[in-house]
Amino acid sequence: MIVVLLGPPGAGKGTQAVRLAERQGAAHVASGDLFREALAAGTALGRQAQGYMDRGELVPDDIVVEMVLERLAQPDCDRGVILDGFPRTAAQAEALDAALAAQGRRVDAALAMDVPAEAILERMTGRRICRECQAPYHVRFNPPARAGQCDRCGGALYQRDDDREETVRHRLAVYQAQTLPLVAYYRQQGILRQVDGLGGVDEITARLVRALDAGAD
Ligand code: AP5
Repeated sequence: MIVVLLGPPGAGKGTQAVRLAERQGAAHVASGDLFREALAAGTALGRQAQGYMDRGELVPDDIVVEMVLERLAQPDCDRGVILDGFPRTAAQAEALDAALAAQGRRVDAALAMDVPAEAILERMTGRRICRECQAPYHVRFNPPARAGQCDRCGGALYQRDDDREETVRHRLAVYQAQTLPLVAYYRQQGILRQVDGLGGVDEITARLVRALDAGAD
């Protein structure tokens, strides 16, 4: 099963994608994580993406599409994929559909998480990420068992540069302009399910699972 998780920055896509991937036995493919890994490894791709990410702008479509399609060609994606942060523009969604169609596959479901802007700002400023496996935590809402340390792999937690309030506000504006139209795109395909993204992490996982099991809106 191929699932697209849609939602504004800080909606909880990464938090929920990890859980859904475990539940479905699927691969978790997050375009932002791929960029941050490339940046940490000092690759040309990471250097290309860094300026855009620091400014809260989208990385150009051709760079993102090539990177994600390469990742989707890896064998672990044959079991199913939870896509987190991709696609983010109409061009990316169309490129994904074309690449999957060429393999006789398709996006099976798009889950859109709705979270108001005030809640997003609170979530982003308290977010901490694992340097090793990129798992997201929140100092108050979703703290690790041991402060500063990842529950999954023991890696050190850090705060992302693009989680400053000013950059978050810009990322929200970019989302409204460029990514929100994908809700209509997937609704038109009959595979959209909208889910309230406010509430506890477990509660939202349960809503997403119900939405996946229930079918399109
Ligand atoms: P990316 O890494 O994809 O960032 P994003 O989409 O902006 O999403 P976030 O990772 O910020 O948030 P999330 O929804 O995953 O929330 P999370 O679970 O962490 O992209 C970064 C940059 O890379 C982009 O700006 C762009 O430059 C580039 N990029 C990436 N993909 C691209 C693409 N396709 N095209 C072009 N450019 C691209 O949760 C947030 C916080 O809230 C955490 O602290 C978490 O613990 C907490 N939290 C989660 N759930 C709850 C809850 N229910 N209640 C309270 N707190 C919660």
